[in-house]
Amino acid sequence: MTVIAVAGGTGTIGAPIVARIRELGHEARVLSRRAGVDLATGTGLDLRGVDAVIDAIGVDTISAKRAVDFFSTTSGALLRAGADAGVRHHVALSIVGADAAPHGYYAGKAAQERIVRSGPMPWTIARATQFHEFAAQMLRRGAVGPVALIPRTRAQPVSSRDLATVLVDLALGEPLRDAIEIAGPREERVVEMARAYATATRRRGPILEIPFPGAFGRALADGTLLPGAEARILPESFADWLARIRS
Ligand SMILES: NC(=O)c1ccc[n+]([C@@H]2O[C@H](COP(=O)([O-])OP(=O)(O)OC[C@H]3O[C@@H](n4cnc5c(N)ncnc54)[C@H](OP(=O)(O)O)[C@@H]3O)[C@@H](O)[C@H]2O)c1
Repeated sequence: MTVIAVAGGTGTIGAPIVARIRELGHEARVLSRRAGVDLATGTGLDLRGVDAVIDAIGVDTISAKRAVDFFSTTSGALLRAGADAGVRHHVALSIVGADAAPHGYYAGKAAQERIVRSGPMPWTIARATQFHEFAAQMLRRGAVGPVALIPRTRAQPVSSRDLATVLVDLALGEPLRDAIEIAGPREERVVEMARAYATATRRRGPILEIPFPGAFGRALADGTLLPGAEARILPESFADWLARIRS
């Protein structure tokens, strides 16, 4: 049995990763504040007996400074603890386009990638596109009273269930010492995803698409977040996902 520690194992992608590890008969150890581990302070962090780490921790911010601080601190702590404990593989979950548009939140993901590449652990970086759940995340973040403001964004969203399967396979395999891209089957406009999700969940109120300012906004709108030709394409579309969660 392989022991895999999942940083952020209670989150949107972390929970299906943990479920997949257990489904395969391996042991999953959840590293999150709700499980008594704070990676920002190092409290409760102990990777003894762990074979591989999947880092799927997240922070809700658009501040570049806050994101860089968060991902530098948490990745640094995980990599040091992993090296000390003899962990053989560190899999970091990043985002397609983070390297090409290191602004706002993505500055944190770009910093995380740099730390992993230059760190003490054998590594793989998996850059995923937005999850289908991104529609709900954007509705929550963009809520201004009854209105939701959704930044103009081109995306090719991926199923977190499909992605979790690939991330666990990566963790069980050899470190690639490379970054790979993982995406869903179809390009979508995020505002249309948000509208479809709102209809399906009976959310009321107007949902408006707005241009997001600055370099980050340009990257959202101009296709920088779309996967390249080499990306692994996973099957479940946004429409299929929506039908699945409604049934
Ligand atoms: N959402 C997307 O569409 C998307 C797309 C591609 C890549 N990603 C990447 O995937 C990762 C996870 O995103 P998500 O949407 O699943 O995030 P999420 O649902 O907000 O989950 C974040 C996770 O991080 C944990 N966490 C936060 N602060 C922590 C701390 N100080 N110490 C320990 N655990 C902490 C949270 O658990 P506790 O609250 O219990 O601590 C939670 O389990 C992020 O790195 C993100 O960049 C996301």
